[in-house]
Amino acid sequence: MKIFKLLLFIGIIGCFLSCQNTETKLATNPFIHGVASGDPLSNAVIIWTRVTGDSLGVANVKWRIGTDIELKKVIRSGTITTNSSKGHTVKHDVRDLKSNTYYYYQFDFGGFSSPIGRTKTAPKGEIDQVRLAVVSCSNYEAGYFNGYGRLAEKEDIDAVLHLGDYIYEYEPNAYADTTLTRKHEPAAEIITLDDYRTRYAQYRRDADLQRVHQLHPFISIWDDHEIANNAHVEGAQNHNEKGKDEGDYMVRKSAAKQVYYEWMPIREGKHLYRKFEFGDLTTLLMLDERLAGRTPPVSSDNAENYNDKARTMLGEEQANWFINNLESTNAEWKVIGNQVIFANLNIQPITGKERPKNMDAWDGYPAERARLLEAFKEKELTNLVFVSGDTHCSWAIELPSDMNEYDIRTSKGTYGVEFGTPGLTSANLDEYRPKEQVIEVEKAMRRVNPHLKFANLRDQGYFILTMNLFEAKATYYYVDKINEPSKGETKGKTFSTRRGKNQLVMSSN
Ligand SMILES: [Fe+2]
Repeated sequence: MKIFKLLLFIGIIGCFLSCQNTETKLATNPFIHGVASGDPLSNAVIIWTRVTGDSLGVANVKWRIGTDIELKKVIRSGTITTNSSKGHTVKHDVRDLKSNTYYYYQFDFGGFSSPIGRTKTAPKGEIDQVRLAVVSCSNYEAGYFNGYGRLAEKEDIDAVLHLGDYIYEYEPNAYADTTLTRKHEPAAEIITLDDYRTRYAQYRRDADLQRVHQLHPFISIWDDHEIANNAHVEGAQNHNEKGKDEGDYMVRKSAAKQVYYEWMPIREGKHLYRKFEFGDLTTLLMLDERLAGRTPPVSSDNAENYNDKARTMLGEEQANWFINNLESTNAEWKVIGNQVIFANLNIQPITGKERPKNMDAWDGYPAERARLLEAFKEKELTNLVFVSGDTHCSWAIELPSDMNEYDIRTSKGTYGVEFGTPGLTSANLDEYRPKEQVIEVEKAMRRVNPHLKFANLRDQGYFILTMNLFEAKATYYYVDKINEPSKGETKGKTFSTRRGKNQLVMSSN
């Protein structure tokens, strides 16, 4: 019995000492990936960091949050335990916060403190304005993240929506500006858990990306490249492509999802699709158009099963959730965080191909879109604002219930508008064609798509969506270059829609 007690004592002491290893002073700063925050609610926000070091094991990371920039007035603090099963990422859902309030937060570990992050809770009740920045398609190899740097400097932003392609899965030089020295790590297409972790760790060492995460809360959703090009539930175009053996897609998908949740400041729940409220003005519904219910694509709108009702982008459960939430909200503006273009779009001027539709976008899933349009009509929904990524181009599009009844002059019969965000760095048309030719393509796109009010197929940047009681407007911002670090940025066009009109008007800024 005595021996047993002794062993127990030794065990407790051993455990105590190993726990204390986390208190050991480290030789180098473990906070090399900065800090981040996200998924703001009116009373809660996720804070994030990662600790890096040799043979870390279990790490107890301290956090604190307060209302002043120097964190002299700490209102809440605690400790989060992380380990190698989480890739040493640290995430905490800070609760019981005040609405519409800036908070500052910091982490401590190994004798070092992280940078201080700033975040903001969502507003509640009656408010005058909501401002959301919208970004997507940030390919590290395509250019410098100057757009993130410029966005970091913007004030009065409630949240940054990242609509996907936060990372790209390709090996170096496969989809890149090969004249740059920004080469993907690891130096191969990412497939395993370790691969995905290494890729996120590389992106998150970028100073501009760190800065924008440090200063604004993100609300993110994946598109395809967080897994592999043109991903869906059962497979992806860039999986086992060209006879490569990349193993079981389900194993790869599960690794990609795990690492996304490790590295992104996202509140974990049953689904990635989720709802946010910004006072009584805006309800934001972030959709998952890749891994929740997307069935395999068809090769063209000629395919026999093109109109098949079983072919879905959202899937039954998410589509019901989407419609129910649109119907039940009293918010003036219903913003939909959408990955691929929702509008009908004839893209022949871009592709030059015989068939005019993009099968990876909503044009490739007509039956489910028709079901949604029917629901919008039946429930008399209006003021829908789709914000979309994926194309690396800027678009402003009116959304008619029925294209055959669309009147270009009055915009009658429209239920909403769609704003497409340019890529942050990913290539669009002018990387491959002379600028004069691209301008002609933009004009041709307008000609064959009467509901398309604006197309910019040549610049990189983002837009800011501002909503008040009277209007919703998107202002585009473009960086001057991506092939070297630069602070140059120009304010592009602004398009707005008045409440209840669903009609786009170009406004002078
Ligand atoms: Fe992309």
